[in-house]
Amino acid sequence: MRVPLFRPAIREGAVEAAARVLRSGWIGSGPVAEAFEHAFAEYVGAPSCVAVSSCTAALQLALRVLNLPEGAEVITSPVTFVSAAQVIVQEGLRPVFTDVDPETGNLDVESVRARLTDRTGAVIPLRYGGGRATSTSWYEAAGKAGATIVEDCAHAAGAAYKGRRIGSHGSFHAFSFNAVKNLPAPGGGALTLGSDEHEARLRRLRVLGLRLLREVEPDRTSSNHLFCVLAEERDSLVERLREAGVDSSVHYRPNDTYELFEEQTSPAPSASRAE
Ligand SMILES: Cc1ncc(COP(=O)(O)O)c(C=O)c1O
Repeated sequence: MRVPLFRPAIREGAVEAAARVLRSGWIGSGPVAEAFEHAFAEYVGAPSCVAVSSCTAALQLALRVLNLPEGAEVITSPVTFVSAAQVIVQEGLRPVFTDVDPETGNLDVESVRARLTDRTGAVIPLRYGGGRATSTSWYEAAGKAGATIVEDCAHAAGAAYKGRRIGSHGSFHAFSFNAVKNLPAPGGGALTLGSDEHEARLRRLRVLGLRLLREVEPDRTSSNHLFCVLAEERDSLVERLREAGVDSSVHYRPNDTYELFEEQTSPAPSASRAE
């Protein structure tokens, strides 16, 4: 008998759910991903969850919304997949490696304490193998130094610590759903959050900062008659769209600016932006 290192257990319900999505014709991020976000947030006991393409993306976006100064230090483990170290560098920050606790494979807390300085912006511990971790002491040590913890929970979907699921202890927890993880999918990740402070920005950043043509709101369906955007530099946007072969028009001249209604003009700052 062979014991495989990894073989995903995919239940019939998951196969049917995937088929429903494929048949719907909407295979990009949409209502199913949103339902997953709610379900996963509830499962781990976090106020919110933002689904992304991978754990690597989740780690990177967490660092991005922290707005750390260029070159700030981020303490992490050398004994892990290279995602954390790579995104630290990609964000213009500096990885500082600790020793690891031989019992747990996680960041050694004394080693973290010894590396915390006023240049430390964040600490990325991982939940090695999904198992034991001394996370209370990580949070205490980082908190004293004013550093934020971004947990790499790539191995830890379903794990718990002190009666609470991993993903609910701090501000940022990055999960992986790649094909060899314990909650596997063809690919995917999620960031569970301790509050909604950064949620809106994270949602924009996960699509490269875009919010132009469709805001997905679950309680309404648009006829898609107009795609309306407010642009700071409207005329140059119109010009660039024209050059790219995309027509646009400027709607509407605020009605109170017509001569007919000049008597009625009242201060209306949002309406006058449309002019
Ligand atoms: C500890 C750890 N962090 C991050 C990742 C990256 O996950 P993803 O493939 O979802 O980006 C992995 C994947 O192997 C991992 O083991």
